[in-house]
Parts: sequence; C-alpha cells; structure tokens
Amino acid sequence: MTLLVTGGAGFIGANFIRCMAAAHPTWRIVCLDALTYAGNLSSLEGIAEGPCFRFVRGSICDRQLLETLFCEENPDAVVNFAAETHVDRSIEAPEVFLSTNILGTAALMDACRAHGGVRFHQVSTDEVYGDLPLDRPDLRFTEETPLRASSPYSASKASADLLVMAYHRTYGLPVTISRCSNNYGPYQFPEKLIPLMIARCEAGQSMPVYGEGKNVRDWLHVEDHCRAIEAVLLRGTPGEVYNVGGNSERANIDVVRLICRELGQPESLITFVTDRKGHDLRYAIDAGKIRRELGWEPQHTFETGIRQTIRWYLDNRSWWQTITSGEYRHYYERMYAGR
Ligand SMILES: NC(=O)c1ccc[n+]([C@@H]2O[C@H](COP(=O)([O-])OP(=O)(O)OC[C@H]3O[C@@H](n4cnc5c(N)ncnc54)[C@H](O)[C@@H]3O)[C@@H](O)[C@H]2O)c1
Repeated sequence: MTLLVTGGAGFIGANFIRCMAAAHPTWRIVCLDALTYAGNLSSLEGIAEGPCFRFVRGSICDRQLLETLFCEENPDAVVNFAAETHVDRSIEAPEVFLSTNILGTAALMDACRAHGGVRFHQVSTDEVYGDLPLDRPDLRFTEETPLRASSPYSASKASADLLVMAYHRTYGLPVTISRCSNNYGPYQFPEKLIPLMIARCEAGQSMPVYGEGKNVRDWLHVEDHCRAIEAVLLRGTPGEVYNVGGNSERANIDVVRLICRELGQPESLITFVTDRKGHDLRYAIDAGKIRRELGWEPQHTFETGIRQTIRWYLDNRSWWQTITSGEYRHYYERMYAGR
C-alpha cells in the first residue's frame, strides 16, 4: 500500500502518519505538505528518516507537481488533511482558504481521476454543519444535517465536501468524507485553544477567552480521530460521509479552568475578550454511524486525554517554543537543504 498524505506536517496529519507508520510498518507513506506557517516537519521526527517514508514540499494546488508525484509514486489512496484551518485567520483573509481548501481538493481529485480512480479520503469538519443552540442539549449533528457553515473557513470546507460528493456521483471516484469535532493532543499549533492556554498558563500570562467562554465544543483525542480515518479508509463505503465525535462536550471556559487547575495557576489569569465575529455557539456530533457500521470507538476519555496532553506539552516545551519563536521555519532548510 502506498498512501499519499497531504498536510502531513500539520497537527492531525502528523499524528495520522505516526499512527499509520506504527500500525502498518510495510506501508509506504508519502507526505505532501506546503509547509505553511502551520506545517512543522519536526512533528515527524523519528518517522521522516525511515525507509518507507518520503516528504515532498509542495502545494496541493500545484497540478503539475501532483501529476509528477502520482506518476512517481502511483499511490493506492490519498488522505487529504492539507488545509488552511484557523477560523480567526479566515475572518481576516478568506482568499487563501478558498484556493487551498476548495481548489486544492479539486486538483487532488483530478489527479486521482487521471490515475485510474485512486481512492480519496477527505478530512472534513463538523463546522460545515454550522452551530446548535446552547439550550437544546438533545440536538446533535448527523450526516443528514444540512450544511450551514458560518465562517469563511467552514464555508470553504463545506464547498470542498460538496465537490467531493459531486466527483463520486459524476465520475464514480471512490471517495469518503469524515467530519470530526474539535481535536486535542500532541503537536497542535499553539494558536489553537488548548495548546495556547497551556503555554500562557504555565508562563503565568493572561489567558484570553472569547465572550464569556460559554461556547461549547465536542472534544476528541487526535489519536481517536486518526483511528476513525483509518477505519473509513479501510472499511468505509465509497460515497459515504462519517461523523466522528467524542461525546465530550465542554464549554470553553471549563476547559480553560481545568488547565489552570492542572497547572496549579490561579483562575485570575483568565481574561474575557471581545467575542469572535459569528462565533458558533455549540457543536455536538452524533457518531452513531461510524460506531455501528465500522465498529469504531474512542479509546480516550476527555479527562485522561487532556491530562496526558497537558503533560505532553510540559515535557515537549522545545517543540512549541521553537514555534512561538519562529525558529521552526528553518527546520526544513536544516534537514533537507541540498538533498
Ligand atoms: N484541528 C481540528 O480540531 C480539526 C477538526 C476536524 C477537522 N479538521 C480538519 O483536519 C485537517 C487537518 O487539520 P489540522 O488541525 O491538522 O490543521 P493544521 O493547520 O495543523 O495543518 C494543516 C497542514 O496543511 C498544510 N498545508 C496548508 N496549505 C497547503 C497546501 N496548499 N498544500 C499542501 N499542504 C498545505 C500546512 O502546511 C499544514 O502542515 C483540516 O482539513 C481540518 O479542516 C481539523
């Protein structure tokens, strides 16, 4: 099996490559990543040196590069993690979200079509469904919930999902989509809520929370997400969408308070800042389909997973400190210059 993983130097992609390399040591894994600000090759340390792994720096929007890569590697399957992912950045500058998340997905699927209908898996998000009211705990997103994206980020992901399903219907491309809730775990870029709060809390800095912190997210450990993608890739039905979630809804403020408690810091570090424009209130996923049809179950509870995650960031300060200092940007040159 040769697997092309796009966006594999990002948070979930790097965890996925690590999980797959451990579970399937005979697979050849090719990682294509543009190394934007969010891509960090040091997340693949220990894997990148292996004989079954190849890293290619480039964009999923580069059709010429995709053609060359597909001819060289002849992948059996593609898993697409490559995306612009930060909602706040999409509010400031939506354009790059449209080109990477929509046009890049189309370019990848065209390469799959041109090479005999390569199996394609799109890593999507529960944010394509919009949000749910805070006072209706009975409501959850199912795969049938209409797409009602709120931010330029989620609208670009929803657009890509529509294209993926259209390629299945029009060209018969063997595609699947997974839509997952918020992930937490090792190697997450420290602009996202949990690593950002851990870094600021342990430094005794203010911990800025949007609005009153009442927005609710359903949290899933990244390794459980990776196992879900593996299940869909190997046993999913082409043309189907699978929701993935942890059944672990938490208000943002409760997650931030928990981090304060775990790090022994006072809650007085928490400050409330002007809410994000169009901030989604609540996400909640019904993951019944993937549990029933593919036998997937999360292995981590939020309580144990979040403690392990906090421990990981404390034990791996150098990983995120090189990011906050910008030093990680030189990693590619150091590791790959002249190769
Ligand atoms: N983080 C979450 O909680 C979450 C939840 C559900 C779904 N998702 C989805 O999972 C995927 C991965 O998310 P993440 O949190 O790991 O993101 P991330 O921002 O950490 O990583 C994205 C990666 O994509 C790469 N990239 C960006 N543009 C590219 C391009 N044009 N060509 C090639 N590579 C490019 C970046 O360099 C980076 O390595 C995304 O598609 C996202 O929508 C994320």
